[in-house]
Amino acid sequence: MKITFLGHASFLIEIENIKIIVDPFISRNPLAKDINLAALNADFILVTHAHEDHMADVEIIAKASDAIVVSNFEIVSYFEKLGIKGHPMNHGGTWEFDFGKVTYTNAVHSSSFPDGSYGGNPGGFLIQAKHKNMYIAGDTSLTMDMKLIPLKAKLDVAILPVGDNFTMGVDDAIIASDFLECSKIIGCHFDTFGYIEINHEEAIKKFYDKNKDLMLLKIGEDIQL
Ligand code: NI
Ligand code: MN
Repeated sequence: MKITFLGHASFLIEIENIKIIVDPFISRNPLAKDINLAALNADFILVTHAHEDHMADVEIIAKASDAIVVSNFEIVSYFEKLGIKGHPMNHGGTWEFDFGKVTYTNAVHSSSFPDGSYGGNPGGFLIQAKHKNMYIAGDTSLTMDMKLIPLKAKLDVAILPVGDNFTMGVDDAIIASDFLECSKIIGCHFDTFGYIEINHEEAIKKFYDKNKDLMLLKIGEDIQL
């Protein structure tokens, strides 16, 4: 499994030959200017919720690569009206895809489309691939529901928001990592806007002091699991 950070909360996850893009927000993220949007293609696009900073580039990528959008029912219905294929889910539901089992998990946040209309309830994803399990929290506060994840799967890695203000911050992400029983954390949802700028060294040290590993990847950087 290869995970590439595309900026903000966007990731490219490659599982064998299958490409999955999570929450694409590239064209409107000045920090991600070196990512070539036109070169991105995906088999699946996972969308955690309807906020613009999570789905700004779903349409362009989906249409260019004929990808299937996996999200809540409301978001999938929205994209189906634009001629994009989708797979609707809702909280607690699991579906077996070619790359592994996906569960749409709870998130404590909001989820309106840019025009203010209802975007379903926000979520995250538990992906149980052939050899690796990962959890993508989505935009969320720290929540007791995270304790349910290790009852279902032993995680190899978790992607957690750490930017605070709109989501949990570093201190709560450390508690989340305890709840998830996973010490290998990839941070997201930091630095993109003024409200969520973080001190990288301080954040990494806080995790390190608890015997945990916080990875703050550079945009375009990848890790192999
Ligand atoms: Ni959001
Ligand atoms: Mn967000």
